[in-house]
Formats: sequence, structure tokens, C-alpha cells
Amino acid sequence: MRLFKTVAGLRTYLAPIWHQQGVGLVPTMGSLHRGHSRLIEQARRENEVVIVSIFVNPLQFGPQEDFQQYPRELERDCELCEELGVDVVFAPSPEDLAIAPSGKNNGKATPLLEQTTLVQPPPSLVTGLCATYRPGHFQGVATIVVKLLNVVQPDRAYFGEKDAQQIAIIQNLVKDLSLAVEIRACPTVREESGLAYSSRNQYLTPQQKEQAVALSRSLQRAKQAFNAGERNGDRLLEMVNRELAKEPALSVQYAQLVDPQTLAPLGEVEDEGLLAIAAYLGQTRLIDNIVLRQR
Ligand code: PAJ
Repeated sequence: MRLFKTVAGLRTYLAPIWHQQGVGLVPTMGSLHRGHSRLIEQARRENEVVIVSIFVNPLQFGPQEDFQQYPRELERDCELCEELGVDVVFAPSPEDLAIAPSGKNNGKATPLLEQTTLVQPPPSLVTGLCATYRPGHFQGVATIVVKLLNVVQPDRAYFGEKDAQQIAIIQNLVKDLSLAVEIRACPTVREESGLAYSSRNQYLTPQQKEQAVALSRSLQRAKQAFNAGERNGDRLLEMVNRELAKEPALSVQYAQLVDPQTLAPLGEVEDEGLLAIAAYLGQTRLIDNIVLRQR
């Protein structure tokens, strides 16, 4: 396995490979867990060359968020990638990706967001769900994803359904900007308890990890009702909220039912509906979702 920390190094490696072999990219922020492994395994099956990018993207963290604290474990991540048969780990620096707040303006550092070209997702995709509580987050995600796709130019790129709004935005971005890449969506990987794997689960105490199971449990409750014929959005959301309220340590930010592609709110599920929630446990923000689909 090769580790590249510069765009130039990666491009030199890729030059003879592009258009000769299928290249799969798995973009991550590192601190890899089983959710990431599943994406990597799928990429391994579907491509001759597999590249995992590891970059904690400053553009997608708000000023009050955990950018500094976010776990960084490159050595361990590389070992895991090696075990999974990854060909290349691409771990660039912010400077190398040209998104470091380096410029000086009258002796003051120019804020990062004022000196970077940004990719703005359409308002319809960034008015609800997480976007309401994380202004600018998806602009930061869209910008880094376009940059990574431009650097690597993969045939396929892999994203998890765990981040449902992110994947809807990326699918639209690829269509709207006519990018030549296939987006592959991978199902959410969960612990046995039902808790979705997340790099942020590391912040949780053992007790909080048990409390966090309420998120997936509430979604499962709504799914049971849906399977039994319930299609009304208010009633499905009421079930979710009632289940979440049983765990007083959780502070719920939102529970919403939307169309999985357009993210428009749904009053009634016809073919399919995305039930998504976000909640705080202490300082840790957790998200989870489920797609309700006619069987
Ligand atoms: P990160 O949180 O590291 O996640 C990388 C990829 O793994 C994302 O596509 C995410 O949806 C997927 N993933 C995370 N947990 C998962 C789980 N439990 N099951 C299945 N897939 C899971 O998402 C990001 O990084 C960043 O926003 C990024 C796309 C890399 C842009 O910076």
C-alpha cells in the first residue's frame, strides 16, 4: 500500500492508471470504523485500484464545532487500509489542497471562507435537516468532495447512507456539475445494539453509548408501524419522538420525514420516505436515519 500526502505525488502515481484501470475513491475524515470498512470492501470488489482519502476538512466545521478535537489516527487508519487491501491512502494537508487560512490581509490572517471558491448546494437541499443547525456545513462538504473528485478522478466514489443529506447533495452535485463519476451508496453499518458506527461515538462514555441506542430504536419503532400500514407522517414522527423522550439524557434537535432524493418534507409516505433524526448526548451530536419503503 502507498501513502501519498501531496496532490502532485498522487497524480504522478495515477497518470498511467487513469483510463486503464477502474479507480474507486472512498472519501473519509479518518478515524476509520466498521462503517468505513464496509465502503472500502465494496470499493475493493468493484475496482482494480482503491484509494481512501483521509482529510479532516476545515471547511465543513462550524466555529463552535469539534474541528480541533476531531480524532486523528493516521497510523492506525493506514494499518486498517492495508488489511483491507487498499492500494493508496491519500492524506493531504490543508495547504496542499489550497484550503489553509494562509493569506495575510493588512497584517491579519484572512478567514478561510473569504479566500476559497466554494460549491453551493441548491437551497432546496440545504434548508432542512442538519443544514438548519450547521450553516455552511454542506457547502464545505460539497467543496471538498468536488476537489477530491477532481484530484483523484475516480470511476466510482463511495458514500454511506448514514449521512443521508450528504449523499443526496453529492448525487445532485455530480448531476448538476456534469461530473464523470458514479456515486455508490452503501447501507448504514450498525453495532449489535443498533447504534450506527460513527467516528464521534469515541466521545461517548459507556453509559452514553447505551443511551444513544434510543436513536436507532425510535427509527425501528416507526419502521414497524410503517410495515403494519402506517403512512401518516405526523403519526410516524410522534412515535419516534415518544421513543426518544424515554431517554432523558438525549436532547433532540430534529426528527423529520422527507423525500430521500429531494429532501422535501413529506406529510404522507407514498413510495418511500427518509426518517432522519439528530440529537445531542452531552456535547456529542449524533445523527441516524432510516428509509421507509413499500416492500
Ligand atoms: P466521514 O464521517 O469520515 O465518513 C466517510 C464516509 O463513511 C461517509 O460517506 C459516511 O456516510 C460513511 N459512513 C460513516 N459512518 C457510517 C456507517 N455507520 N455506515 C455506513 N457508512 C458510514 O462523511 C464524511 O466523512 C465527510 O463529510 C466527507 C464525505 C469525507 C467529506 O469531508
